[in-house]
Parts: sequence; structure tokens; C-alpha cells
Amino acid sequence: MEEKNSKEAFKKTREAGLIAAGALDEVAKVIKPGVRTDYIDEICYQYISDHKAYSAPLFYRGFPKSCCTSTNHVVCHGIPSGKILKEGDILNVDVTAFKEGWHGDTSRTFEIGEVSIKAKKLIKTTYEAMMKAINIIKNDIYIGDIGATIQDHVEAEGFSVVQDFCGHGIGKQFHKEPNILHYGKKGTGEKIKTGMIFTIEPMINLGKYETKTLNDGWTAVTKDKSLSAQFEHTVGVTKDGFEIFTLSEK
Ligand code: MF3
Ligand code: CO
Ligand code: CO
Repeated sequence: MEEKNSKEAFKKTREAGLIAAGALDEVAKVIKPGVRTDYIDEICYQYISDHKAYSAPLFYRGFPKSCCTSTNHVVCHGIPSGKILKEGDILNVDVTAFKEGWHGDTSRTFEIGEVSIKAKKLIKTTYEAMMKAINIIKNDIYIGDIGATIQDHVEAEGFSVVQDFCGHGIGKQFHKEPNILHYGKKGTGEKIKTGMIFTIEPMINLGKYETKTLNDGWTAVTKDKSLSAQFEHTVGVTKDGFEIFTLSEK
């Protein structure tokens, strides 16, 4: 509750969010076929350190790297490694900056070189679903309204919404209540209130919605091996709408 309606919470999350978005802008500059995912991790680590912040994923519950790199059928929590990106891959990079005690969490899905028309449509639809959901945010809407907005948009295109992972409250803690489901029914669940800060981060699959986690304990993949895309923003609820804290300056 200490964060509710807090000017400080918004100010600090804005700062952390800008750094996280800036790290993704740096990543965007170097991404191309032939690049290793642990090079992307280095870029994130360096950019965030240079801005006097920490990479929240590093050592979070034992996670070994500074960001998540999730390619193709990896839904989320891919671990940066010697894996080399190739033409036609899709890659989500998820970064979280921790600055002066507050978090900013954001991700984007990038195209590596030229990707298939299906992959392009999946990425576009995922981004649109996130933005559509963000655009309805204001005091007193229901969490179910957010989920329904995403699910309607995505299923109309024939894609599916991952149910095993959700958005989350964020602030001094990386992950806190409430859970923001990316599917659901209008008018259900908890109400969103002015001052709340949370993420919206839909993971959308080309095929079925089911996921499984690999033996490394982190990497989540689609069960049917179909492609999966994701975007994430950290948002705050204002008196008459919302603020996105993780927009790129560009
Ligand atoms: N950034 C992810 C999220 O959106 C969480 C990553 S946790 C990690 O919530 F440990 F995998 F990095
Ligand atoms: Co998140
Ligand atoms: Co994230």
C-alpha cells in the first residue's frame, strides 16, 4: 500500500523504465544474423550499469543472466547463451532495470533479417494486443477487461494466449500482486485503481496455448513447438488514464 498514489513511485518507475527501454534500443542496433544471444545480454548489462542501475533478472531466483532472450518457440525466460541468431528467427529480449530501489520491466520481439509472413503477423498482432489493452486502462476498470481485450484481438487472428505466465504488479518488488492475466472475461476480477503500477506482457502463440518448461528450470517453450511472440510495458494508472513508463525515447 505504501506505493499507492505515490508521486515517488511514478517518478522512480519512470526513471527505471526509461533505462530498460534504452537498453532495448541498444539491443535493436546490434541485432542481426550471426549475433550470439549472450552478446545481447552483455549489451543489456553494460547499458544498465552505465546508467547506474542493476539488471533485476541477474541472480533473481538463481537466473544466471541480465536479460531473457527467447527465440522462436521459446515463450519466455530463455537464457542468453552461445546460441547464434539466424536469418528468419524471431527473438524476444526482456529487460528489467532496478534503479534507486524501483523496477522498470519491458520486452520487445525482434525480427532477425527477413522473417516469414506468419511470424510478422504474429509479432504485429501481439504488439497490437498489448497496446489495445494498455489503451483501456483507467481507474475502476477490471483486470478481466485487460485480459478480454487481449484475448479477443489475438483469437480473432487465429492465435492463442499463453495462460501459464502473466503480467504483474511491480514497484520496489520485481513481481508483486496483482496478477494481470492476458485472457479472461470483461467485468471480472479485481478493479484497477489510480496509482497502481503493473506490467502487461502478453505471450502469444501461433499454435496452441500450452507451454512446458525445459530441464534448465527456466526456458518455457510452446508444447506444439509453434512460434511465440511477446511485448511488455510497465504502466501506471493515472486519474484519467495511464502512463507508459517503458516507452523508447525514439
Ligand atoms: N522480466 C520477466 C518478467 O517480465 C521476468 C524475468 S525473471 C528471470 O516478469 F529471472 F527470468 F529473469
Ligand atoms: Co514482467
Ligand atoms: Co519482463
